Amino acid sequence: MDDLRQKYLNAIADAADESALEDLRVTAVGKKGEVSLKMRELGRMTPEERQVAGPALNALKDEINSALAAKKSALEDAALDARLRDEWLDVTLPARQRPQGTIHPVSQVTEEVTAILADMGFAVAEGPQIETDWYNFDALNIPGHHPARTEMDTFYMHRDEGDNRPPHVLRTHTSPVQIRSMQENGAPIRIICPGRVYRADYDQTHTPMFHQVEGLAIDRDISMANLKWVLEEFFSAFFGTSVKTRFRASHFPFTEPSAEVDIQCSWEGGTVKVGEGDGWLEVLGSGMVHPKVLAAAGVDPNEWQGFAFGMGIDRMAMLKYGIPDLRAFFDSDLRWLRHYGFAALDQPTLHGGLVR
Ligand code: DAH
Repeated sequence: MDDLRQKYLNAIADAADESALEDLRVTAVGKKGEVSLKMRELGRMTPEERQVAGPALNALKDEINSALAAKKSALEDAALDARLRDEWLDVTLPARQRPQGTIHPVSQVTEEVTAILADMGFAVAEGPQIETDWYNFDALNIPGHHPARTEMDTFYMHRDEGDNRPPHVLRTHTSPVQIRSMQENGAPIRIICPGRVYRADYDQTHTPMFHQVEGLAIDRDISMANLKWVLEEFFSAFFGTSVKTRFRASHFPFTEPSAEVDIQCSWEGGTVKVGEGDGWLEVLGSGMVHPKVLAAAGVDPNEWQGFAFGMGIDRMAMLKYGIPDLRAFFDSDLRWLRHYGFAALDQPTLHGGLVR
């Protein structure tokens, strides 16, 4: 019995985990365990022998059981210690980063304008920001002596003496993309071109770089009536309320007839509210594309006609989102960007509603 005790107490002390401990329990004190089998032998003993062996076996069984229980709780403690050691985490570590950037109002409004006009069938076209003076002026019926060339405060690219390449300018408007698109795709055509333009000018409502969107629709029988419908649909969708327009006769070299377009607004309380009241605000230039412009782009003016318009994107952003100073758009001041910027994943769509 001493051998049995020593064997099991040693084995229990050496058990590496709970399943080893369970195996030991079964082989020692389980129903068919060694100690249990010994207990069965009691029946074959004399009463004297039994009086000695019985209590001794019971004591051994108790001793093994309590050794098993003690070892079990020691293993559990060790396992808990190991977990506490391994699963420790540093709650002072910095938290997961949250997105910092915002969508600039110019980008947001460009997306909004594009979403509305794309829904009407206009494709997006692009052109270079450094243009030849032919695309920026001549092809648009603005000849060399025309006052518009100086009125526009054009930035000219530097030319060394003896450099005879044609003059290049930073485009003063998005209108040259009309020419490039018609040269590339001919007629019929329906495009818009949002992009950067440049003029040497700087005050509360002018920055040397700003943004325009050009529109062009050429087909066989497009008229001013189509222009007016497109613009009224556009402004109503853009401002999220029905907006009346007023066409005033004007002059641009590249359109005939030409019209400046005002949108309905109220000036009450010192703030502009688009789509109400009986005031007017000039927002774009437009007209029927001049036959000379069509011809310069290789489109036969006897067969094709259509409208064009040009509008300031930054101006639209200021009006829609109540931003007072244009210059702040390009200061990269984080406080301004956080205040006026848009959530990165909040893309404008027509069905989602453009006004937020
Ligand atoms: N390009 C003109 C500007 O920058 C705006 C403009 C007026 C564009 C009439 C047009 C147009 O397409 O038809 O002031």
